[in-house]
Amino acid sequence: MTSVATPGLENAPTTHSRLLAWVAEMAELTTPDRVVWVDGSDEEWTRLTEQLVAAGTFTRLAAKPNSFLAQSDPSDVARVEDRTYICSVDEADAGPTNNWMDPAEMKSVMTGLYRGCMRGRTMYVIPFCMGPIDAESPMFGVELTDSEYVVVSMRVMARIGTAALQAMGTDRPFVPAMHSLGAPLEPGQADVPWPCSTTKYIVQFPEERMIWSYGSGYGGNALLGKKCYSLRIASVMARDEGWLAEHMLILKLTNPEGAVHYIAAAFPSACGKTNLAMLEPTIPGWKVETLGDDIAWMRFGEDGRLYALNPEFGLFGVAPGTGWDTNPNAMRTIEQGNSVFTNVALTDDGDVWWEGMTDEPPAHLTDWKGRDWTPESDEPSSHPNSRFCTPITQCPILAPEWDDPKGVPISAILFGGRRKTTIPLVTQARDWNHGVFMGATLSSETTAAATGAVGVIRRDPFAMLPFIGYNAGDYFNHWVETGKSADATKLPAIFYVNWFRRDDEGGFLWPGFGENSRVLKWVVERLEGTASAVETPVGHVPTADSLDVEGLGMTPEQVEAALAVRPEEWREEIPQITEWFEKFGDKLPTTMWDELEILRSRLA
Ligand code: PEP
Ligand code: MN
Ligand code: NA
Repeated sequence: MTSVATPGLENAPTTHSRLLAWVAEMAELTTPDRVVWVDGSDEEWTRLTEQLVAAGTFTRLAAKPNSFLAQSDPSDVARVEDRTYICSVDEADAGPTNNWMDPAEMKSVMTGLYRGCMRGRTMYVIPFCMGPIDAESPMFGVELTDSEYVVVSMRVMARIGTAALQAMGTDRPFVPAMHSLGAPLEPGQADVPWPCSTTKYIVQFPEERMIWSYGSGYGGNALLGKKCYSLRIASVMARDEGWLAEHMLILKLTNPEGAVHYIAAAFPSACGKTNLAMLEPTIPGWKVETLGDDIAWMRFGEDGRLYALNPEFGLFGVAPGTGWDTNPNAMRTIEQGNSVFTNVALTDDGDVWWEGMTDEPPAHLTDWKGRDWTPESDEPSSHPNSRFCTPITQCPILAPEWDDPKGVPISAILFGGRRKTTIPLVTQARDWNHGVFMGATLSSETTAAATGAVGVIRRDPFAMLPFIGYNAGDYFNHWVETGKSADATKLPAIFYVNWFRRDDEGGFLWPGFGENSRVLKWVVERLEGTASAVETPVGHVPTADSLDVEGLGMTPEQVEAALAVRPEEWREEIPQITEWFEKFGDKLPTTMWDELEILRSRLA
């Protein structure tokens, strides 16, 4: 059978033969009306954003330059963890924490879904690079998508277009990342502002280093360079090649004497990574600069230290709760424009608003579902997982070395979750393996960042539960092995933090936000050997006078409650951790059982 060539498929701006063959294969399967090679230019951005405005997907914001509001289909607002699969050849390699299907079976199911799925639409070819294009081994990908919203968002979030395509040359490896909304248009059929399908699949093929996504236009499901590539696929590459791909912010902390420490921190989605990455210290003389707010790739440098790099180019932050009080630097970043907002509210003068942006809500808004909203309305104006998507280069406190391909040497790693009880404000691990135990047992209350119930405590190891691209037991072992292979004196120190502990009345015990600089200060003073700590069964906790609480107005009892290690609470954790560890069978490194035994005996 012969078919009429799809416009745009010929005259491609590359001779990369594997890329050309793959684009042709997917175009033949999905039958778009045309293929467009994305160049990443300003002209292309202007053309696509105008097209999105005309389609009703975008509203141009009168109050912010070159910025747009998108209101999604109300069903397509978050990552769909129950539709996310790791399709390894062997089921054991997906492990107990991921959904799995046989790769051949998944391909057959999805090939059926992909057949003709771009009818009436354009297939965009987005060449991209995670991390700097001038890295020694640039990490290329190519996303195929039928969503203009995805093209525009990818331009904010990653290095895309001609520069990436040229650097790929004729034969450099890339991760194929296939995406479709799954909403073909029949001739004459009117489009909707946010096309998507009720059937969704977010699939990683780890051995092939390939991604197939179907049915959703939302961030983490559709911007495939982010969670799918830089965490799920990259974690598999990292396992095989001896590095780490982690759900971590990266910040630079300078003390009053000018000494610099780089810190990486892993918290689950919507637990304050962006806020900590851009923190304004409340203690005099301390300075924070930002390098990344979501993902860190870490490799050992020639000096034996662990170096971290942010592979992204933009911020895809949770909007609600982001305001001039809580994160002024994020506000300054978006003020400059060039941003896409999704599922927030529109003000009458053409700006965006969401809960927590200002103390006083505007008297009238258009809510995220397009309805009139006033402060008396029953529902919030913005979806709890609404987002701002903005270039990281607009961040006023971006560290100049943020895009250095060799990364920055990490002094400390923080793990943290959202826990009302049990977990102290800050605890230092005794050593690397104890830190791995902290990461492996990390727990947090669920948030709106994924579909499903909110506020339920679940184990979220290393804040990577939805993002580990292989068996989580093997992943814990990879962390243990990473420690073994290193010079212990050069490894980052590991800490566990909890900004969310409550008192008996349900109030937060710690003010959080800029005041978290006090915890960062204690962390670096521990590294420098100047801060004291008490050894408890769960690790080293600040002595009451070693944590700088000057001017905070907390009573000594409140400080003590924030730092308290209550054996009765911890004894309740033991059976939960045991049950959690049992899930991993033989895959769990024995050191994790050893650490649990140490905890049990210290609590006894
Ligand atoms: C996302 O869901 O698109 C995303 C960026 O992830 P997270 O939930 O970690 O914020
Ligand atoms: Mn995240
Ligand atoms: Na999310």
